[in-house]
Amino acid sequence: ARLVVLVSGAGTNLQALLEACADPAYGAKVVAVGADRHGIAGLERAEKAGVPTFVVRVPDYPSRQEWDAALTEAVAAHRPDLVVSAGFMKILGPAFLERFGGRVINTHPALLPAFPGAHAVRDALEYGVKITGCTVHFVDEGVDTGPVIAQEAVPVRWHDDEDTLHERIKQVERRLLVEVVGRLCRDGWTTKGRRVSMKCRTC
Ligand code: GRF
Repeated sequence: ARLVVLVSGAGTNLQALLEACADPAYGAKVVAVGADRHGIAGLERAEKAGVPTFVVRVPDYPSRQEWDAALTEAVAAHRPDLVVSAGFMKILGPAFLERFGGRVINTHPALLPAFPGAHAVRDALEYGVKITGCTVHFVDEGVDTGPVIAQEAVPVRWHDDEDTLHERIKQVERRLLVEVVGRLCRDGWTTKGRRVSMKCRTC
């Protein structure tokens, strides 16, 4: 399966996918990496792996709608079977979901539906939960609301701060994401009784 991975930061989840894809038995290949900003480690990781990259920045477009259309085209050009939002800090728009809906997954550093949004680890710590974790889910039009594919729990330690907790979650998150993408690409997936076809329908 052809993967397009979207990133906004360090790209350690991307790195885990790149490494998994090095094994032909994994059944997937990262064909492109997209970002919403320049100068991030995620793009460097892609370049180092010889994977094409593209950047589609919100401020370069007159409206969010036009940014959405441009991102959709940039991704479609690589004919993905599956789009992976791996630390991509933008909400994917209606045009994007219209084109790729059902074939876009996201990784989130909390046990959804608890702590959606951009500050999941901080919010979990502030709330005082003793167990948090990570979720891989399909993306729908809401913020971190799509059907859950897989979750794994991570205990909060007494001395955790946002960084130590996030780092421990990310270790689990990378493994979970690699596992989910591999299973999706090999077997397809059933969620809420709906089989997700891994063949590209629109491009
Ligand atoms: C991950 O925890 C992801 O869930 C969150 O941002 C982090 C991205 O990490 N939204 P990286 O860029 O893959 O290292």
